[in-house]
Amino acid sequence: MVARDFEGKRVLVTGGTRGIGLATVKAFRAAGARVAVNGRTAESVAKALAELGPGPEPVAAPGDVSTVAGCRSLVDAALAGLGGLDILVNSAGVFREVTVEDSDEAFWDQVIDINLKGCFFVTRAALPALRDSGGNVVNIASESGLQGSPRCTVYCASKGGVVLMTRAMALELAPQVRVNAICPGPVDTDMLWGGAPSGQASQAYFAGLQSYAPMKRIGRAEEMAAAVLYLAHPDAGFITGAALSLDGGSTAGR
Ligand SMILES: NC(=O)c1ccc[n+]([C@@H]2O[C@H](COP(=O)([O-])OP(=O)(O)OC[C@H]3O[C@@H](n4cnc5c(N)ncnc54)[C@H](O)[C@@H]3O)[C@@H](O)[C@H]2O)c1
Repeated sequence: MVARDFEGKRVLVTGGTRGIGLATVKAFRAAGARVAVNGRTAESVAKALAELGPGPEPVAAPGDVSTVAGCRSLVDAALAGLGGLDILVNSAGVFREVTVEDSDEAFWDQVIDINLKGCFFVTRAALPALRDSGGNVVNIASESGLQGSPRCTVYCASKGGVVLMTRAMALELAPQVRVNAICPGPVDTDMLWGGAPSGQASQAYFAGLQSYAPMKRIGRAEEMAAAVLYLAHPDAGFITGAALSLDGGSTAGR
């Protein structure tokens, strides 16, 4: 892959206002792409766009991925601004450690609707444009989509769903449209800091996460973005239905 390999490519990143999504937006722009940035509110998107700096003109694509209407409207905004779509990155998501007993219906609906339903309906709305361009999709799943972890049952259900949805869609959409996922371990973003069980000091929570992966550190958003760009690139043209682990070895075995 060379620096400007995505020159002229049209990219939509959901959850692009922060964390892994924002790092992905920046990496695609640095590689020459035009990027539509989604966040839940117009304000959060405007703030993120204002801070992007020089580069190809970004497109605002606000909308709540937890509703089908929100998915439709954010994809419409992206298509109107970009004039088509080559690459879709589904990064919008929420995470919090909650026990089974404390996971009520509202929590279940919130996590599943944003992480799983949103990923499906954004992709469904973008599909005609992706078929036109022979484009591809990269979903941000999680190591929690490959293995369980305590106090993360609902989150694991959502991300396990994203991994299998990726594989099923890859089969159905091949050879026109490739669909892949990355499965990050803990990554240093606002989500991780906000995900600690209530009452546990964030520093202690972070230290625990740091020591558990064989690589003995937490991932960086830029490392996740680099893998997204690889999977979206023609160099990865023979890869579809993959769930690429980026977790410092934590799902390699015990
Ligand atoms: N940070 C980690 O440790 C980690 C690990 C594995 C997987 N992930 C996954 O990576 C993705 C990005 O996480 P992050 O760490 O960058 O989190 P983050 O909290 O920094 O960013 C999440 C983004 O999702 C957006 N979002 C949330 N709800 C939304 C909604 N209803 N509609 C539209 N946008 C919405 C937020 O506005 C934000 O831009 C998520 O899917 C997350 O589950 C993160």
